[in-house]
Order: sequence, then C-alpha cells, then structure tokens
Amino acid sequence: MAIKVRFVPDDVMVEAKVGEPLLQVAERAGVSIPTGCLMGSCHACEVEIEGMEDPICSCIHSVPPGKDELTINLYVDPTW
Ligand code: FES
Repeated sequence: MAIKVRFVPDDVMVEAKVGEPLLQVAERAGVSIPTGCLMGSCHACEVEIEGMEDPICSCIHSVPPGKDELTINLYVDPTW
C-alpha cells in the first residue's frame, strides 16, 4: 500500500511504501537530510514525524505502517 509522505518545510510530497527507509524516501523526493554516522548514534539525521512526540533518527527508521499519510518535519538544527 502506498503512503503519501510529505516533507516540510519544503512541502514536497512523494509516495512511499511501508518499510521503505526514510532516507531513501527523502532522496526520491529530492529532499536532503543531513547524515553522519548512519547508525543511529550521532543524531545528525533527526526528523520529526507529525504525531510523534520525539524526533527520530531517519537513518535507522523506515515508513511506519498504519497511516495513509505521513508528515515529516525536517527542522533545521542550527548546531548542524
Ligand atoms: S546519521 Fe547518525 S544518527 Fe543518523
């Protein structure tokens, strides 16, 4: 099942599949997420998924099941 993924603040929408790595989805959308370790430890790649309390590391997460639409907030962290 295809899920609509919207990246903000760029406001780019792409379709993705459940289980697809978030970085891959972002790349297809032409959105760049800063990365570092790619192992979930440096937090360079943190994004916020709407409806979730804590930011997640996009390098170790994929599109979660159970939604038709996902909004991913790439907030620009001034320390990076
Ligand atoms: S790139 Fe380091 S936590 Fe994702």
